[in-house]
Amino acid sequence: MASKQGILGSDTLSLHGRLHSGSVNRKLLVFILLSIGFLGFQCINFLHIQPQVRISAQASASLARCRSLSATPGPSPSFHKRPQSDRFVAGTKPVLLKNAKVWTGDKNGTEVIEADVLLDKGIIKGIGHVRAKTLAAYQNIEVVDVKGAWVTPGIVDLHSHLGDASSPETNGASGDDNSLKGPIQPWLRSLDGLNTHDDSYRLSIAGGVTTSLVLPGSANAIGGQGFTIKLRPTAERSPSSMLLEPPYTINSSFLELTESFPWRQMKHACGENPSRVYGQTRMDTIWQFREAYNKARELKDQQDQYCERVLKGDRELLESSPYPEDLQWEALVDVLRGRVKVQIHCYETVDLDDIVRLTNEFQFSIAAFHHAHEAYLVPDVLKSAYGHAPGVAMFATNARYKRESYRGSEFAPRILASHGLQVVMKSDHPVLDSRYLLYEAQQAYLYGLPENLALAAVTSTPATIMGLDHRVGYVKEGWDADLVIWDSHPLALGATPKQVFIDGIPQLKDPHHAEKPKAFQELPRVPNFDDEARDAVKYEGLPPLKVQSAKEDIIVFVNVANIFARAASGIEETFFSFDGERGVVVVQNGTVTCSGSSATCMTNSLGDARIVDLKGGAISPGLVTFGAPLGLEEIQGEESTQDGAVFDPFLGKVPSIVGGDKALIRAVDGLQYGGRDTLLAYRSGVTSGIVAPTHYAFYGGLSTSFSTGALHKLSDGAVLQEVNALHVSVRHFGSAPSVSSQIGALRRLLLNPDHRSDAGKWFGYVSEGRLTLAVEADSADVIATLILLKKEVEAKHRSHVKLTIVSGLEAHLLAKELAAANVGVVQIPSRPFPTTWEKRRILPGLPLSEKSTVLELLAHNVTVAIGIQEAWSARNTRFDLAWIAVDGGGQLSKADALALGSTNVEKLLGHKAHDYALNDLVATEGGDLLDFGGKVVAVISPQRGLIDFL
Ligand SMILES: *[C@@H]1O[C@H](CO)[C@@H](O)[C@H](O)[C@H]1NC(C)=O
Ligand SMILES: *[C@@H]1O[C@H](CO)[C@@H](O)[C@H](O)[C@H]1NC(C)=O
Ligand SMILES: *[C@@H]1O[C@H](CO)[C@@H](O)[C@H](O)[C@H]1NC(C)=O
Ligand SMILES: *[C@@H]1O[C@H](CO)[C@@H](O)[C@H](O)[C@H]1NC(C)=O
Repeated sequence: MASKQGILGSDTLSLHGRLHSGSVNRKLLVFILLSIGFLGFQCINFLHIQPQVRISAQASASLARCRSLSATPGPSPSFHKRPQSDRFVAGTKPVLLKNAKVWTGDKNGTEVIEADVLLDKGIIKGIGHVRAKTLAAYQNIEVVDVKGAWVTPGIVDLHSHLGDASSPETNGASGDDNSLKGPIQPWLRSLDGLNTHDDSYRLSIAGGVTTSLVLPGSANAIGGQGFTIKLRPTAERSPSSMLLEPPYTINSSFLELTESFPWRQMKHACGENPSRVYGQTRMDTIWQFREAYNKARELKDQQDQYCERVLKGDRELLESSPYPEDLQWEALVDVLRGRVKVQIHCYETVDLDDIVRLTNEFQFSIAAFHHAHEAYLVPDVLKSAYGHAPGVAMFATNARYKRESYRGSEFAPRILASHGLQVVMKSDHPVLDSRYLLYEAQQAYLYGLPENLALAAVTSTPATIMGLDHRVGYVKEGWDADLVIWDSHPLALGATPKQVFIDGIPQLKDPHHAEKPKAFQELPRVPNFDDEARDAVKYEGLPPLKVQSAKEDIIVFVNVANIFARAASGIEETFFSFDGERGVVVVQNGTVTCSGSSATCMTNSLGDARIVDLKGGAISPGLVTFGAPLGLEEIQGEESTQDGAVFDPFLGKVPSIVGGDKALIRAVDGLQYGGRDTLLAYRSGVTSGIVAPTHYAFYGGLSTSFSTGALHKLSDGAVLQEVNALHVSVRHFGSAPSVSSQIGALRRLLLNPDHRSDAGKWFGYVSEGRLTLAVEADSADVIATLILLKKEVEAKHRSHVKLTIVSGLEAHLLAKELAAANVGVVQIPSRPFPTTWEKRRILPGLPLSEKSTVLELLAHNVTVAIGIQEAWSARNTRFDLAWIAVDGGGQLSKADALALGSTNVEKLLGHKAHDYALNDLVATEGGDLLDFGGKVVAVISPQRGLIDFL
């Protein structure tokens, strides 16, 4: 074999060289092959002879493809010796961060070092004590003393639709994430829909997100290829320039490998979404997967057989037929070759099981199951997947929005981690605003995921799963200079970036920040949820949520640190422990009979009372939820679980049986109790709700107040107030009804109410100032028009109309005018996001603006409350409130924050303030309602004369 060069070496050309006329070449090659055979060199491997062979361009391309089949993705061995990042922007100043507390991501996420961090050329050049000599080599370096602030890698989002489902939604550039052309489309690319003008880039960076995997949506079984981007703006302003390690296919139709090549990403989905979109069943979808994978397998087999022969020296085959390839199926073949990170949306056990079988049949592995709300119930199913166990990418508490997520549990992250599975928290942006992805990790930590894994779940673990852990997800020498300087411990609620670096470039210009108490620099204490986590598995995701009323007449809460109570002005802190002296609250038959110091309350008459140690906890007023259909629906995606929507005279004829367009529907008539979101809300300190009839357009109806803890409508205190307020929406619904038509309707109904009709009677009450009118609106222009209409009605009826704006994301633009008109706002959601055009002018809050909408409105003395959009989030009201208090940096007391989620909701939505002493109270152990450490242990209900233990 040593002589092969001698034989073939006469007329060499590069395999990528000039094109030759095929026929001439083929003759020559046949001759050469025959010569080799004749001379007994059959074993010649073309790998070794390539520089000297004279072959056609097509043959050389085929040969190159065959040679690369065994190559695997990943960085080159010398990657970390790179002098600068491929994403380095010339002119970026080197930066030295001094005195940082760095969570590096190393050592399983347990390494925290106090160090300086040197950033240059888009790379982390050093961590530790940077010597003066090293520094001296840098001119023009920016030195920032971060004074002990926490520094983490930039947040990495494993599941985003940023750019493809862009905000605000418009017909022109949203919804580019799902193709409806068929269930199997491995050839589509999320990159092709990436809108560079999505408002979310800036917002998500403000939450510390630096890298996102943009996946196609989940309408299709195989939705197409995902692309990883960095979120910062680029000089080129193009989608392509945002890519991080794009696959080789972006410039060429087929495989063209260099010494190293990046991982590709692919989206799959199973279960309800493809079924719904394509009117099919799970059986159909799995067959479609098998059919597609079979096609890919056939192509792969053809390629392998071809290459085996060609690489063994079959020149005839090489010259007569090209390497078998197919543009539509090449990506799926790459899956079978182990070059693609498959990211698959699957929820239920049946789906996980189906897909695991598919991986074993076709022998490919899965990077991660996404959503996977039942994965924690079947860890062994995941472990039996082909190759390796997939990671699991989850939401923290977003569940029960469809049947597939009904058994979702906040304890899933800790349970999966305890089985050694990789846990990722993801946004599915804009499903959750990825700006708050860190909050998902905080909640996972709150419910028991170890802190190291919680931080890894939004940094190093997703980076590893997407095959980019050699450059993002860690603060390590040689990694990309993507990091976040936080204003608190990153797992403390409300942690906000002080600065975000991407490729070494600071992303926040003149950031704002709030003063935070020292305690926020420490890892927050969290309650113990071991029993709850065990029950989640024991009851297959549906642990009983019933409560137990205390049997004892007298309960004494001791070791109470704070007592908050309702008062005429809102909420007041009536007791706080001083000099370590803790308080006592005595409850007799559900009524507080004494609260304060133990000297005053601990009397002999308490004989056989049950003593409950709150361990430094608190007694607070029960919170009130509003905004979601909580109380009218159980599962958002299941109509069979819902009250349904009211008829709207704008949209069609209202049946005469309900009174035609003179009808006005009452939510109280559709109330349903005992739903899981409702009971979870109760267990989270949200003891009552206000709900308006579900409506899709202008016409709403009459809202009602109900108890979230009641099990049916006939139980004591289940309905708190039958009629609260009259609700309508004035929105940009599309072509009809126009905004002006809606305002016209409202004017007619309010100026000339027909008192003889049902609707007329209630609109008449509004005109007279006897009933609150709650108008859902966001646009500042609509809100301004409503303020004028209010004046018009008041002038005619000589009244004071009680008007409340619901949602109100642009209300801050009219803070002064709203205050002057005495119009309050229930802001929904409490952390705004520009979903639609009429919401685009949000006030984003820290670090982008000094104030949030809520704080801006409060500064103008507008009455403000907060609400929610979806029922699952009612349970998080306490943290929504806490976040506002934290952002206020001390401007807002805890009592003021509690009022935004209780008394102000009631005031703005027509809940009559009756005897304060009759409202529910909530006992928390280990902290107060606004504190991660506080666990709700009991609800005190004077009206029902009992205490519920949870
Ligand atoms: C990583 O940390 C988790 C939680 O702290 C622990 O259970 C696990 O064993 C650790 N893994 C390794 C490889 O050290
Ligand atoms: C694609 O081609 C452009 C232009 O030659 C080049 O700058 C870029 O690096 C190429 N990208 C890949 C992934 O090959
Ligand atoms: C509580 O109510 C029960 C039943 O109404 C009554 O017998 C008892 O005396 C009450 N106890 C107190 C402390 O008020
Ligand atoms: C808000 O009310 C406070 C107290 O009544 C008052 O001092 C302050 O000037 C008011 N602010 C505005 C902007 O009206």
